[in-house]
Amino acid sequence: MTAAPPTPRGVAADTIERRAGARAELFGGAYVGRRVLVTGDTGFKGSWLCAWLSNLGASVAGYALAPPTTPSLFDLIGLDGEVAHVAGDVRDLAALSAAVAVCRPEIVFHLAAQPLVRPSYGDPRDTFETNVMGVVNLLEVVRSCPSVSAVVNVTSDKCYENCETTVAYREDDALGGYDPYSASKGASELVTAAYRRSFFGRDSAVCVATARAGNVIGGGDWATDRLVPDCVRAIAAGHEIVVRHPAAVRPWQHVLESLSGYLWLGARLLADGHACEGAWNFGPAAGATISVAELVGEFVAAYGAGSWRAADDRERIHEAGLLLLDCTKSRDELGWTAVWDARAAVTRTAAWYRGWAAGAADLRGALEADIADYVRAAGALGLPWTSAKASATAADGGRL
Ligand SMILES: NC(=O)c1ccc[n+]([C@@H]2O[C@H](COP(=O)([O-])OP(=O)(O)OC[C@H]3O[C@@H](n4cnc5c(N)ncnc54)[C@H](O)[C@@H]3O)[C@@H](O)[C@H]2O)c1
Repeated sequence: MTAAPPTPRGVAADTIERRAGARAELFGGAYVGRRVLVTGDTGFKGSWLCAWLSNLGASVAGYALAPPTTPSLFDLIGLDGEVAHVAGDVRDLAALSAAVAVCRPEIVFHLAAQPLVRPSYGDPRDTFETNVMGVVNLLEVVRSCPSVSAVVNVTSDKCYENCETTVAYREDDALGGYDPYSASKGASELVTAAYRRSFFGRDSAVCVATARAGNVIGGGDWATDRLVPDCVRAIAAGHEIVVRHPAAVRPWQHVLESLSGYLWLGARLLADGHACEGAWNFGPAAGATISVAELVGEFVAAYGAGSWRAADDRERIHEAGLLLLDCTKSRDELGWTAVWDARAAVTRTAAWYRGWAAGAADLRGALEADIADYVRAAGALGLPWTSAKASATAADGGRL
């Protein structure tokens, strides 16, 4: 642990005080004063994660290419003034190594990736290089960095060999992937497991885990070929929303669901070490999944504008039709469960984009209001990550 992190540049004193009040009890206080590196900090999930980590009192460094979209959440919520961001490519071993040597993280969340299925058909080589060699490079750097004690590699629910049945995938099911993106995430899992077995065994000070979450939604995503950003763009342009695969069922969840899983997994790795390494699913509760068509319908209703139609067959590519995650392990061993149902996630997300479209000035405040409400709802469910103590053992199911 280090001393308290430096005061974030450009953050008002009353905001710092408000954030400090929310720090100590969450995730067992694991992130107060903790040096954390987030790769992919300029992305959608990375920006939410950095904002939450900063609120938790962490000293946050980031390593990534420039924000992948315009607009970007990273810029809109002013993270550049708050995160010690290094612009760099995860395929560049020397640059990544130099950045890690400067920030000396105690824990790394690895999110930097080419995260989309469609572009992975267009440039499979780039996808494999970024998603597979990126994690190889990170784990190589970690091997020679004495400050690091935990790594959470963010992969995807698409890492599984998808048989398109109604059976939900458990962590020990076969890895696979039809398209280059999915296969790259399966490969990222295999790379991580190989490094864990070969170099980060029980006598190593480094504990490594992977986190598999499904499609997330939330304010501030402008990626191409993602459903909610596609809806927002179409509504803004006055166009009909064109929906590929309306019948496909996905484990939709708010971005805060996967992030609470990553943060709690990280806290448990820091507290309990090797007991929590390996792979973890973080998805919606069983039965809470909805189809693409239902999600678009809910979004249009909550946003108060827009209409949609199904895409023609020729506009489609192969995408998994049915993908369900079994989160029993995370529930039983970490005490983690989803908090918001799909409707709550969509309503929150639509409200955030409505604020952005209306020119709301305090988008960081809107993001923090989502975090505060999510934490309150998780606290009401008695989830252990909302409590002050993080050193539960696996045997007590993480319940403190
Ligand atoms: N968003 C989802 O629904 C979802 C679902 C499951 C898994 N994931 C995973 O979560 C992670 C983050 O996804 P996201 O939605 O925030 O994506 P995003 O595109 O918004 O962000 C990707 C980040 O990676 C960085 N990046 C890309 N290539 C890089 C490179 N070669 N070197 C350094 N940085 C690079 C980008 O600059 C950006 O910071 C990814 O690993 C993704 O596969 C996302």
